[in-house]
Amino acid sequence: MSPTPTEIVVLGAGVAGLTTAFESRQRFPSAQITVVAKYLPGYTSPTEYVSPWAGANWHSFEKERNQYAEYDAVAFKKFVDIAAKTPESGVNALPMRVVYDSDEARKNPLWYGEVVGGIKEAPKDELPTGAVMGLDMDSFMINTVAYLSWLQQQLLHANVKFMRRSYTHVDDLISDFPNAQAFFNCTGLGARHLGGVEDESVYPTKGQTLLIAEPITPLKRMYVQKNASWGNNEFAHVFPRPLGGGLILGGVRRDNDWTAEPDLELAERIKQRCCALAPELGKPEALQVLSHNVGLRPSRKGGARVELEKRKAKLLIHNYGASGAGYQSSWGMAAHALDLLKEQVNAKARL
Ligand SMILES: Cc1cc2nc3c(=O)[nH]c(=O)nc-3n(C[C@H](O)[C@H](O)[C@H](O)COP(=O)(O)OP(=O)(O)OC[C@H]3O[C@@H](n4cnc5c(N)ncnc54)[C@H](O)[C@@H]3O)c2cc1C
Ligand SMILES: *[C@@H]1O[C@H](CO)[C@@H](O)[C@H](O)[C@H]1NC(C)=O
Ligand SMILES: *[C@@H]1O[C@H](CO)[C@@H](O)[C@H](O)[C@H]1NC(C)=O
Repeated sequence: MSPTPTEIVVLGAGVAGLTTAFESRQRFPSAQITVVAKYLPGYTSPTEYVSPWAGANWHSFEKERNQYAEYDAVAFKKFVDIAAKTPESGVNALPMRVVYDSDEARKNPLWYGEVVGGIKEAPKDELPTGAVMGLDMDSFMINTVAYLSWLQQQLLHANVKFMRRSYTHVDDLISDFPNAQAFFNCTGLGARHLGGVEDESVYPTKGQTLLIAEPITPLKRMYVQKNASWGNNEFAHVFPRPLGGGLILGGVRRDNDWTAEPDLELAERIKQRCCALAPELGKPEALQVLSHNVGLRPSRKGGARVELEKRKAKLLIHNYGASGAGYQSSWGMAAHALDLLKEQVNAKARL
C-alpha cells in the first residue's frame, strides 16, 4: 500500500458521508474520492435516508465533556465559520431557548457554556405557564435539504465523484474499487443490514415532525422544551429553518420502531405544545401543515462508532450511529475518522 491513499471511497451520502468526503478532500487533496450511496441528496426515503428529515439544530445531548461532546464542540466551531462565510449553505446562526420543568440545568451546569459563548437564564415571564426555568444561548439552525445539496456541490467542485449504488455486502464494494486503499463506512442505519460485519447493536429511533408554513414575521429564535409529564420520549421543538425551509415542529424518540407512518394523534400533541411554547405561532388549529414527516435516527448501543478496521488488506473506517446528533457531531466525527486514517499513513511512512 502506498503511504498516502490515492483512492478513497465513502459509502453513504447522508450528513456523515458527505462531511467525511469533505474532510477526506481537505487532508488528501490529490486522492481520487468517490461517494457511493443508494440515496443521494435530493432523494428521500423515510426509513433508509434520515438526513433530510432532521430538524436540524445544534443542541448537545452530552451531560459531560466526553468524546461525543468533543465531536459536538468541533462541529459548533465549524458551523460558526460556515454560517459566517456561506449563509447560502443552509447553516445560519440563531439564538436558542431551552425550557425546563425542573432546575436540573441550574444544579448541573451544561458543559458547553464556553463553546456556545455563554448561557443566560431567560426572563421567567416569557416562559410557558408551569415552566421552572429557561436558558438562552447562541446556536445554529440548519435547512437540511439545502445543506446536504450545498455539501454535495462543494464536493463536486472539489472533484469528488458521486455514484448511486446499493450494496448488500462490504466485500462487493471492496472488489468494485480494487485500487482504493481506504473505505469509509457512513451507512447509518444501513450498517445493521450490510453483510460482512453486521452490527446488531444498531437500531432505529423513530422521529416525527410537521413541516409548517413559515410565519410572515420570522421567528427570533428556536425553542426546545422538556416536560416530564409528556414521558421520556416526547419533547417539543420549534425550528425555523433558514432559506425558505419552513418551520419544523417536533418531536419524539421511539426506539426500535421501524414504521414509516406518522402518528396523527402525536402530531396534534406536537402542535399544542409548540404553540404554548412559542405563542408567536398563534393557535394550533390555525397552523398550515405542509407535511407530516418521519425519519429513523441511526442509534447504536454504546454510542456512535468511529473506528478503524483492516479487512482484506484494506482500511475500513467506520463512522456511523450518531442517533439524534448526526449534524451537531458531524464535523467532529469526520475529523476523528480521518485522524484514524492519517495515523495509519504516518505509521507506514515511518517504516
Ligand atoms: C426528526 C429528527 C430530527 C433530528 N434532529 C436533529 C438535530 O436537530 N440535530 C442533529 O444533529 N441531528 C438530528 N437528527 C439526527 C440526524 O438526522 C442523523 O443523526 C443523521 O442524519 C445521520 O446521518 P447519516 O449520514 O449517518 O445517515 P443517513 O442520512 O441515513 O445516510 C445513510 C447513507 O448511507 C447509504 N447507505 C446505507 N446503506 C447502504 C448500502 N447498503 N448501500 C449503499 N448505500 C447505503 C444511504 O443510501 C444514505 O446515503 C434528527 C433526526 C430526526 C429523525
Ligand atoms: C407539562 O405538561 C402538562 C401535561 O400536558 C401540562 O399540564 C403542563 O402545563 C406542562 N408544563 C409546561 C411547563 O409546559
Ligand atoms: C459498515 O459497518 C457495518 C457494521 O459493522 C457492516 O455491516 C458493514 O459491512 C460496514 N460497511 C463497510 C463499507 O465497511
